[in-house]
Amino acid sequence: MDVLIKIKSVEAELKTILDKNNISMPETAIVLGSGLSDVADTITNPLVISYDELADFPVATAPGHKGRFVIGKLGDTPVIIMQGRIHYYEGYPMTDVVLPVRVLARLGAKNFVLTNAVGGLADGMREGDLMLITDHISTFVPSPLIGSNIDELGLRFPDMTHVYDQELQDTFRAAAGKLDISLREGVYAQFTGPQFETPTEIQLMKNLGIDVVGMSTVVEAIALRHMDIRVSGVSCITNLAAGISDELLCGSDVVDVGKEVGPTMTALLKEAINNF
Ligand code: HPA
Repeated sequence: MDVLIKIKSVEAELKTILDKNNISMPETAIVLGSGLSDVADTITNPLVISYDELADFPVATAPGHKGRFVIGKLGDTPVIIMQGRIHYYEGYPMTDVVLPVRVLARLGAKNFVLTNAVGGLADGMREGDLMLITDHISTFVPSPLIGSNIDELGLRFPDMTHVYDQELQDTFRAAAGKLDISLREGVYAQFTGPQFETPTEIQLMKNLGIDVVGMSTVVEAIALRHMDIRVSGVSCITNLAAGISDELLCGSDVVDVGKEVGPTMTALLKEAINNF
């Protein structure tokens, strides 16, 4: 199916459900990464829409990704949360991977927070740390914008100088300061996965100035900046990357650490989005 037709079809379906429930589209959208889905549990009286209620919507198959939208108030702020995202390694075309964020942006979400689980490789990083994403490297994954440009969404050659919005970054810094949460800052690189990296790949990344590695987020950020939408990102360091420590890597540990950090991530998000 043509990419734009598919986006419009999912958009219409989601809008029908929102309208039926008398809910207007929140301006803030949060995508929750592996193990971070508990953040959405603090929403009172949420409207929950499972991805499988929407024809043409990709099914989320990754562990720790529930595959549903949760809409309601996080603290005082109306928000739509993606409790689970779609990854390229699940076998979907990149245009399906970014379809959900494109649909939310078209429906009126203006500010996005992309969260994720990552392996940390910068000096001094520890499991359980949080990191504000200041920039990314997309070189290791195909661009979601490859193919005919969808002029209705954005430009053929969108600028990527400030992918992660400066004001939103400052809001996160202020929120972390107020709550006394230690928030690192750094550069995220996306790999396709699903295999974790080798120690030599991680050393290469370190030499390139990369601070954390993951398997999502960058392509979503590119698709949103194509649409001129404000983007921010927070990573949860669920493990030290391959070879940085002696431990072998395991997907279930990633989800467990994400769950432990959930309450701190929730507090940070609540405070920050209240000031977007
Ligand atoms: N590498 C890539 N993705 C990840 C990692 C990692 O070490 N940890 C969590 N997601």
